[in-house]
Amino acid sequence: MTTQPRKRLRIGVVGTGFIAEFHLRSMVGVRHVDVTGVYSRKAENRARIVKLVADLGLGDCTSHDSLAAMLQADDVDAIWILSPNDTRIETMRTIHDEVVSGRSKVFAVACEKPLARTVADAREMLRLAEAAKLNHGYLENQVFATPVIRGKEIIWRRAASSTGRPYLARAAEEHSGPHEPWFWQGDKQGGGVLLDMMCHSVEVARHLLTEPGKKRDSLTVKGVSGTVANLKWTRPHYADDLKKRFGAEVDYRNRPSEDFARGNVMLEDEDGNELIIEATTSWAYVGAGLRIQLELLGPEYAMEFNSLGTGLKVFMSRAVTGAEGEDLVEKQNAEQGLMPVLEDEAGVYGYTDENRHMVECFRKGEEPLETFVDGVAVMEILMGLYLSAETGETVRFPNPALENYVPVVARR
Ligand SMILES: NC(=O)c1ccc[n+]([C@@H]2O[C@H](COP(=O)([O-])OP(=O)(O)OC[C@H]3O[C@@H](n4cnc5c(N)ncnc54)[C@H](OP(=O)(O)O)[C@@H]3O)[C@@H](O)[C@H]2O)c1
Repeated sequence: MTTQPRKRLRIGVVGTGFIAEFHLRSMVGVRHVDVTGVYSRKAENRARIVKLVADLGLGDCTSHDSLAAMLQADDVDAIWILSPNDTRIETMRTIHDEVVSGRSKVFAVACEKPLARTVADAREMLRLAEAAKLNHGYLENQVFATPVIRGKEIIWRRAASSTGRPYLARAAEEHSGPHEPWFWQGDKQGGGVLLDMMCHSVEVARHLLTEPGKKRDSLTVKGVSGTVANLKWTRPHYADDLKKRFGAEVDYRNRPSEDFARGNVMLEDEDGNELIIEATTSWAYVGAGLRIQLELLGPEYAMEFNSLGTGLKVFMSRAVTGAEGEDLVEKQNAEQGLMPVLEDEAGVYGYTDENRHMVECFRKGEEPLETFVDGVAVMEILMGLYLSAETGETVRFPNPALENYVPVVARR
């Protein structure tokens, strides 16, 4: 970990897809940062990112044709891992090897959710980061969502301080299904919607329930109970639709992953108070677009956020025609009628504050609010939920069976 505050942090991104573009757009609201490198396998994807960095005024970005080359570049301090879940360990191992051998001067790494596909792999990510003495950040954007930052601050300062801590956090994230085939393939992604999206819900809920200033481990998970289901995409018409859109490798007639998941996480605080997280996620929600719903409830108060309850709405009559887009809201499902619009998606979803926080922590050598340790803890909860759904029983924590547990849909 660096000991001196750096004037600027120079970052290299691994991955050039959907989330890489979101991160870059959010970096416009972050100071003291330059995006100086990009690596993914295809040159045309890297070229698109180099152009986007230039268009956004984020620095001079070099396209590297190998991860090792980017790690060895003398203008890269930190890596943002933004590639698919099945590339995590290989990517982190290369970073570890290059740094430990002295070929790379990189001193920090940030990784998108989920940290890995199993608890064992998540622990390996943490071990590799620590062995290479890297500062590490777990990229869970919802913890940094503007309504979460503001809502948590008000609830704990005004309401919890005078009437007692919150006891129930509800978190739901739902949309109509992911954009790339690998998300739908259980063996590649590591699961279905539970792994893909409940990682957000359990972590933002844990964060809301954690007293400000205290570490997340001030809450102890006592047990979890989960349910998974196939509500929509296994219906023959929709399974065939997936195959048409994504190719034969996405075969929901024979190899589906869950498109709905529900989880209850039972926790205890340091005073022995019982706390509950209720999480729901789905790829079977067809509304205007991505919907995040959050609630935090306590003895005399309640907080509530719905990402589709936007202040800005537009109406377009049936006479308006044009191409499909995602220009109003993420995972948009319509271009007509009354539509909600998030004026600043990168801010409301949390990417801007998340990146600002990570850049400042890495620059100053401080520990981020979310680290790989949190990424491991999230994986333990998610694997507990999968095991519970498989056995139909509540899974008590701590539970050694979770270490090498692989969800049913990922066992191929
Ligand atoms: N925080 C959130 O809400 C959120 C939202 C979406 C995704 N994510 C996470 O972000 C990650 C990426 O998702 P995405 O939606 O951006 O996926 P995506 O759109 O499929 O993009 C993946 C990118 O990774 C690159 N890639 C593939 N294999 C690689 C490898 N071995 N080394 C380096 N790059 C490689 C691909 O480019 P090439 O073909 O050129 O290699 C592609 O640009 C996932 O872990 C996902 O869970 C988070």
